[in-house]
Amino acid sequence: MASTRGQFSSKSGFILAASGSAVGLGNIWGFPTNAAENGGGAFVLIYFVLAFCLAYPALMAELIIGRHAKSNMANALQKISNGKISKNIGRLTGFYAITTATLILSFYGIVAGWMLAYLLEPLSTTVGLTSTSTWLTEFSRSRNLLFSGLFIALTTIVIRAGVEQGIEKWSCRLMPSMLALMMALIIYVMLQEGALEGLKLYLIPDFNQISDPKLIASALGQAFFSLSLGVGTMLIYGSYLSPNENLTTMGAIVTLVDSSIAFLAGLLVIPAIFVAQQKGLTIYNETGHLMAGPDLIFQTLPSLFQGMEAAGLVISLVFFSLMTIAALTSSISMLEVPVSYAIENHNLHRHKAAWLIGTITFVISSFIIMNFDPLFGLVITLTTEYSQPLLGFMMCIFATWVWHRDQILSEIRNGHPRIEVSLFWKVWPGYVRYCCPLLILIMLAQTIINH
Ligand code: TRP
Repeated sequence: MASTRGQFSSKSGFILAASGSAVGLGNIWGFPTNAAENGGGAFVLIYFVLAFCLAYPALMAELIIGRHAKSNMANALQKISNGKISKNIGRLTGFYAITTATLILSFYGIVAGWMLAYLLEPLSTTVGLTSTSTWLTEFSRSRNLLFSGLFIALTTIVIRAGVEQGIEKWSCRLMPSMLALMMALIIYVMLQEGALEGLKLYLIPDFNQISDPKLIASALGQAFFSLSLGVGTMLIYGSYLSPNENLTTMGAIVTLVDSSIAFLAGLLVIPAIFVAQQKGLTIYNETGHLMAGPDLIFQTLPSLFQGMEAAGLVISLVFFSLMTIAALTSSISMLEVPVSYAIENHNLHRHKAAWLIGTITFVISSFIIMNFDPLFGLVITLTTEYSQPLLGFMMCIFATWVWHRDQILSEIRNGHPRIEVSLFWKVWPGYVRYCCPLLILIMLAQTIINH
């Protein structure tokens, strides 16, 4: 079986794929709006600290387990357990993670579908199809079903092609294009009137908010979502990594790329909100808060683009291409979680597994679309606010309480022979054993109290 398993063909292939998973709507939409709502620079500061001090160690746990077990999460957690009970808990946790990844994809597919629809709108406007343009940008079941279906189909096509020909090839094509589009947009927005005001709000920390528990909980949740933690996406990508690579450096690069792109996205989105204000658009809602949710992406920004006439069409096209590309490199990592399980545990052919699970995901998305109000928010809350931290907690427990320390050491020694004398090895084991689980539990408690 091992010989038929896919593997990333190069270091850069892995870095682009794992960063592609990490960089998504969470970075471009979630991070800037979270920052705008939680004290701007204060949030950015706390986010960076948490990304490196909490999310990075948890990411390392996933990568190490994955590369050692060379398997999906359900098998991997069983493999590193010795006792019967811990093996069973490992298998159950794996199932829970696979289900959560599928559910995350089913709502992510809906949101990414909106991006796809908004991407087509400037094209239909250019050719004079006014009623199509209206349909594309108005909330309707037909539009939501069609575009989430299209987006999930795109995701399935990439995953069907396998690790090297699908995930790696497309991440290597899409990630640089995404970065180029983002840089072009940042430069454009910075040159507009009003941008500076947004920049100030984003970069100057409001230290009064820095110890606000809500800010810390939001930053932690954001860091977890952004690094795709808990559900086994990083674990499965780690399992496709060659034993010759240095895992600690790889993980650090991915964390750095992810946080840097989130930071860059803030330089784009927050100034853009203030440019919109300059043009007379409302950017604060009734409660006096800066627009942050769907209204920002699907009303404020599109109105801003419309006001720019011909240039606006191009900008809108670029912005929504950026969103769609970022979403696609993330959604493929989510789909790979259940697909790898179906291949490895049920001997399904990759093509069959991809289409089967792609279809199941679309059925779940359709069900959410048909019952949008009660389900959409609920699925997001259950998966990202409760399940993801809980699974991250389990991952830390398995990595450091269940698995043997010398086995971890021998795994990360591959590709890093002097790991024993490194700072990483002095800090990480104790940190993931005590601090990470405790911090995650505090975060969960905070979420429960706030609800
Ligand atoms: N990290 C991605 C983003 O920021 C989303 C993502 C990909 C994800 N895989 C995941 C989130 C697994 C949670 C779990 O948009």
